[in-house]
Amino acid sequence: MRKFIIDTDTGSDDAAAIIIAALNRNIDLLGVTTVAGNVSVEQATKNALMTLEVCEADAPVYIGAGCPLLSERKETISVHGADGMGDCGIINPKRSAQTKRAVDFILDTVSEYPDEVELVVLGPATNIALAVLTDRETMKKAKHIWSMGTPGFGPGNATPVAEFNVFIDAEAYAVMLESGIPITIAGFDLCTGKTGLGKKELAALAGGNKIGKFLERATSQLLQFKLNTRQTYMVDLPDALAMAAALWDGFVLDSVNCYCKCCTQRNETHGQVIFYRQDRTYEAVSDMYKANAEVITEVDENLFIEKLIQLMV
Ligand code: RIB
Ligand code: CA
Repeated sequence: MRKFIIDTDTGSDDAAAIIIAALNRNIDLLGVTTVAGNVSVEQATKNALMTLEVCEADAPVYIGAGCPLLSERKETISVHGADGMGDCGIINPKRSAQTKRAVDFILDTVSEYPDEVELVVLGPATNIALAVLTDRETMKKAKHIWSMGTPGFGPGNATPVAEFNVFIDAEAYAVMLESGIPITIAGFDLCTGKTGLGKKELAALAGGNKIGKFLERATSQLLQFKLNTRQTYMVDLPDALAMAAALWDGFVLDSVNCYCKCCTQRNETHGQVIFYRQDRTYEAVSDMYKANAEVITEVDENLFIEKLIQLMV
């Protein structure tokens, strides 16, 4: 059975990703680690615990980094609401997090199951970078990283060139990219097509099972944000797309191998990831860099919506 760890700054799209994994009987969800990003690490931990509880899943939750590797925590607007989950009072978990720290859990688990553990990284990559910096050789035994990060080949959502997860901890993303662990990236550009939940899908969730109802409420502030800023009745779920890429056969239709370079300078490029596509020739780059990630370029949008809704109605 495939073995997974989810690393998450649990907002509502992380919750959708956790739901996909928690309801999948063909994988072993060994644990969930939390990190500051959408919300504080304490709030992310409560949100992860609550999401698992709604799914009746008992995966342990481990608290991770409360701030990026090299900077203070940046206070950003949470598009998912102040609690990251729609601000409608649905976060009252009964369970608590484990006392072991997230980084120790990640390292111990990779050590226990060499070449088997797949990490789905849905927030800033701080915990992963800390694990790599603590014990690089052990982390090389991680089987795969599925990352929601970068704008893909579209514009940024945190700045014109940077996607939120990478922008929040660019140094950590750079460490993760250079870790030598095989990485697949689901960028934010995958959200721009028909992978969002519209009126029909949100109504289906609202009338669905308890998990559907939970997710519909958790995404309500995100919907409000989209209505206010884009006049669009739509909720996008970038983290759920990364999870679908990891778990659902036939979902990823195309991808390209790239050398990905994360810009860490504190200027306008902070958090930008430059993709040197291996299927292109660059006139000023004579020695092509070796690919360090596979970047998804096309997914089956209909399959995503169908399978996601099926889980919750
Ligand atoms: O840019 C989208 C990403 O930032 C998602 O992971 C979302 O949850 C936030 O963390
Ligand atoms: Ca996230």
